[in-house]
Amino acid sequence: SFDVKLASSGRVVRIAADQTVAKALALAGVEIPMSCEQGVCGTCLTRVLEGEPDHKDMYLTPEEQAANDQFTPCCSRSKSALLVLDL
Ligand code: FES
Repeated sequence: SFDVKLASSGRVVRIAADQTVAKALALAGVEIPMSCEQGVCGTCLTRVLEGEPDHKDMYLTPEEQAANDQFTPCCSRSKSALLVLDL
């Protein structure tokens, strides 16, 4: 598991191993617009302010993934213990 922090509120949400980031955030009352939920459409794209996402999408280019400043919370996870999101 890892934690996601919402930059606007400072709130920290724990992401369990069997949960997507989007699902855990929805349960915490933070709805992210989604469509494909498979990393294809980019609808859920969210800015990352700190931390290193574990990209699972097919939407971003390898260069965009390597920049680690955005990720797709419908399917991507985190390599670092904490991701700070621009939410
Ligand atoms: Fe389509 Fe996340 S909802 S990439």
